[in-house]
Amino acid sequence: MALWGGRFSETPADAVFALSRSVHFDWRLAPYDLRSSLAHLAVLQSSGLLEDSVAEPIRGALNELISEVAAGRFVANETDEDVHSALERGLTEKLGAIGGSLRAGRSRNDQVATDLRLYAIDHMIEVAQQILALQSALIAKASEYGDAPAPGFTHLQHAQPVLFGHEIAKHVQGFSRDLDRIHDWLDRALVSPLGSGALAGSSLPLSPEVTAKNLGFTSSAANSIDGVSDRDFVAEALFTLSMVGIHLSRIGEEWCIWATTEFGWAKVADAYSTGSSIMPQKKNPDMAELARGKAGRLVGNLTGVLTMLKGLPFAYNRDLQEDKEPLFDSIDTVLLVLPAVTGMVATTDFDREKMALAAPLGFSLATEIADYLVQAKVPFAHAHEAAGKCVAMCEASGRQLHQLTDEEFASIHPSLKGDVRDVLTVHGALESRTTVGGTSPSSFKQQIKESTAITAAYSKEFTDKAKAFSEMMGA
Ligand code: ARG
Repeated sequence: MALWGGRFSETPADAVFALSRSVHFDWRLAPYDLRSSLAHLAVLQSSGLLEDSVAEPIRGALNELISEVAAGRFVANETDEDVHSALERGLTEKLGAIGGSLRAGRSRNDQVATDLRLYAIDHMIEVAQQILALQSALIAKASEYGDAPAPGFTHLQHAQPVLFGHEIAKHVQGFSRDLDRIHDWLDRALVSPLGSGALAGSSLPLSPEVTAKNLGFTSSAANSIDGVSDRDFVAEALFTLSMVGIHLSRIGEEWCIWATTEFGWAKVADAYSTGSSIMPQKKNPDMAELARGKAGRLVGNLTGVLTMLKGLPFAYNRDLQEDKEPLFDSIDTVLLVLPAVTGMVATTDFDREKMALAAPLGFSLATEIADYLVQAKVPFAHAHEAAGKCVAMCEASGRQLHQLTDEEFASIHPSLKGDVRDVLTVHGALESRTTVGGTSPSSFKQQIKESTAITAAYSKEFTDKAKAFSEMMGA
């Protein structure tokens, strides 16, 4: 059903209707549209613009539609242009002409902006909760390997030994920043555009602040023109979702590498692996690859929306209809990937022995020699040089650092005594890195304690927010 047409002598051409139509993707805004209609109805009624005899049947019909939409008994049809027109059709089918009363003081411009905000808030809270589930899995896996030495890498080359738990736990940090971003974003997203009307506000005695409170927003738009055009909340959400995707992609990449025959560290559970249609022996880490690959479309969605917004004239332009599919797709994608990665992390086993054997390889203890010399008051530049010479001598003779003789050590630097071998152990290298955030067992324990506390606080916050939002929706 068209929401306009009075001034037109022709109906839209088929191609126009096809291009205009958004109901096939914006139908998912229906519950939010109905809920904001209830809020709008409440102000129309309390201001006396709608008599109780009209308002009450409309409220009843809106509540019926809420149940019917949830149960799939009321759906959009071929003639509906968008979610707003479909739902107004639903109201008029139930009530006749008074079904169109809600349009007073409201435009699809403020309506769609409100609906999309509510959708985004609801789903970003869900994303936060899924991130928290992944963080818990990462913290548990990190703790399980909190005593397992492994090589640490820079440039994908052996660098210094680390606890494998430390390696896993690093992923928790990026996701904590994502949670910070969602937390901060919510403050800005919780501004209600409802009451901005088409662009100029309303001559009717509405109370946008009251509608805002009714819908759980903290305030209403300070400028009605901005109210209907602001899509910063979409762009920011898409950036945050892209960052989540990028963090997931970096987990994916590690899992792919660790599961290679060459590394052989990760044993990904069968339930999180896939086979090959031709090579019977294959067990591929496809979940990790998809986690890595999906980041591309998330960044694409962000880029698409930013480009659509650039230079866009103010108030409503139909370009803005292009805000929805990217947002829906990014939310769907992240909500699809997060549980799969959580399961993959929780069920992967790692080969402690292989990692421990690899930990000292590639002369990863050379820094210990330099640090030993620094303790003996040798300037670091000289210490670094001497440690490098030790490596060169080992490479030339096919030995490990601790296999150099006392004489050889002394020939490289007079302060290099035989007791340097005491620091040339993985255990010693790990134990000594006690700085905050370092890889020593004591620093690692502290890190896990702090990560657990942050996760617990955010868990509570987002559980409370989810509850408040669903109470608002059900009110
Ligand atoms: N389907 C439209 C959208 O998604 C709703 C708003 C239409 N407003 C208008 N003035 N044509 O943006």
